[in-house]
Amino acid sequence: MQEKTITKKTSFEQEVYEGLTAFPKYLSSKYFYDAIGDSLFQDIMAMPEYYLTDCEFAILQKHKSAITKAFSEDNAPFSLFELGAGDGKKTKILLKHFTENQIEFDYRPIDISQNALDQLQRSIQHELPKVVVNTIQGTYFDTLKDIAGEHSKKKVILFLGSNIGNLLHPQAIDFLRQLRAVIHEDDLIFMGFDQKKNPQTVLNAYNDDSGITEAFNKNILTRINKELDGNFDLDNYLHWEVYDPESGTAKSYLVAKQAQEVYIKKLELNITLDAWETIHTEISQKYDDKVVGWLAKEAGLKIHAQFSDDQTYYKNYIFKKE
Ligand code: AVJ
Repeated sequence: MQEKTITKKTSFEQEVYEGLTAFPKYLSSKYFYDAIGDSLFQDIMAMPEYYLTDCEFAILQKHKSAITKAFSEDNAPFSLFELGAGDGKKTKILLKHFTENQIEFDYRPIDISQNALDQLQRSIQHELPKVVVNTIQGTYFDTLKDIAGEHSKKKVILFLGSNIGNLLHPQAIDFLRQLRAVIHEDDLIFMGFDQKKNPQTVLNAYNDDSGITEAFNKNILTRINKELDGNFDLDNYLHWEVYDPESGTAKSYLVAKQAQEVYIKKLELNITLDAWETIHTEISQKYDDKVVGWLAKEAGLKIHAQFSDDQTYYKNYIFKKE
């Protein structure tokens, strides 16, 4: 009898299979990020059209004293957890201000990339040697357990960059509930939410002429080609962005310019795309106070404070348990 080796499929394999055999087709934006995707995202953050990073940077810079006050008003030493810390460029504004004001805290950056964490730890040791840094490697979901397990100190959880915008509202509520479950009464959650604004400004942030966002969006196909032995021809796809000002949802697609067949060897999967068929790859949700208040409420949280840039393009909210 012939035996077939069964190897467990990775979540990437499973989700690619599911998304490309569904109608309409979709892929998850969480798979944009390998070494190439990380570096393309760095390039996006440096684009003039991508206002989010500059706005959040400006908010932290402008309101660092008020933020510090909000984090330390009870004078309790705290652990600052950061989900998806990356290069920590924005967080260092706070770390520096805390140190200069003799705030007692330790910094616990969490990232999926050990490499990013090592670099971050080194740069902080160099620039802010007094800051105690203990890194945690893993996905948000794995590491919530680590956060829950820490009982000794007050917790402040940072989630910057409007990363929550990749989630549909029900998923965002679920995520906020999970955060709520790991904090206590005086603990805080500090989160960035990109705001609704002139729809053209939003659209431009995801539709640059330089082709960086296009390359970022197509990197998911590149990954399928490389890691799953697929044969997507990237030139056959358009990057297409739409922004619905009513719902506040920016959506990214890859659109097939002509009918085509694709074979993904590792999945033993043949798919066909009709001309102009779409693959939905990302949502980047935009918010207002009403929606943020509603999400918080649904998750058992309340808005304790908020900080905005001069144009109100972007806001950082502090949530507490309701
Ligand atoms: C990292 C999820 C906040 O949605 O604005 C940037 C990713 N996508 N350009 C965003 C992204 C296209 C970004 N987040």
